[in-house]
Amino acid sequence: MDITRRGFLKGAIGLAGAGMTGALTVPALKSLLPPPVTRCNEDNAHETLTYKSESGKWYENKGGKVAKKEDFKLWDVAIVNWGPKELEEELGSCEIQLALVKVPTEAGMENLGVSDDGGNSTMMAYHTYKCPHLCCKPVFTPEGTSTISGGDYSNMFLCPCHLSLFDPVSVIKNIDEQGREVMAAELLEGPAPYGLPVVPIAEKDGGLIGLTTHLDWLKYCGQG
Ligand code: FES
Repeated sequence: MDITRRGFLKGAIGLAGAGMTGALTVPALKSLLPPPVTRCNEDNAHETLTYKSESGKWYENKGGKVAKKEDFKLWDVAIVNWGPKELEEELGSCEIQLALVKVPTEAGMENLGVSDDGGNSTMMAYHTYKCPHLCCKPVFTPEGTSTISGGDYSNMFLCPCHLSLFDPVSVIKNIDEQGREVMAAELLEGPAPYGLPVVPIAEKDGGLIGLTTHLDWLKYCGQG
């Protein structure tokens, strides 16, 4: 078949155009791709519960230090960072925050908290990172009046999104939406399907650490 000069030129211009388009399109497409998956740095992993740096809190001068039970008086609450290496695989996070509280000792806290003050108080950690309803962050509230029941309450976790109320002293066995048993601060009212899970803690080298024995209790809000 004869290739005319005119036909050859048309083909050459078409090929050059396609090349230029490709050169421009690849970087443009790259900018549309999601960012690469973050990999946690194992060197930064820590089982210790370390104070979050927060100004205006009683622990503001302890930011980054390991929490100790002696630091707390009854009903002191601190937000602590926790980043054991298992967290990435189990929950997809490098580090999460928990509420660490010294509460009056009650049945149900055995093997979950760290006893203090001759057994009268216990250090407990609660998964305030995500509410089991729709994943907001419950906040410790020393005193309040429920807008659902109208009753007054003290020393509860209140979820700001839909006002679920959790009692940190009543740690009971709950059944989550997948049928798993979860030890959690009892749900008193509100739309959450069950209580606010606890994270078992222990004492090591004079400081507090979180245990990874029950990461399944924290698997909700899309975590499976
Ligand atoms: S997200 Fe907590 S009550 Fe809805």
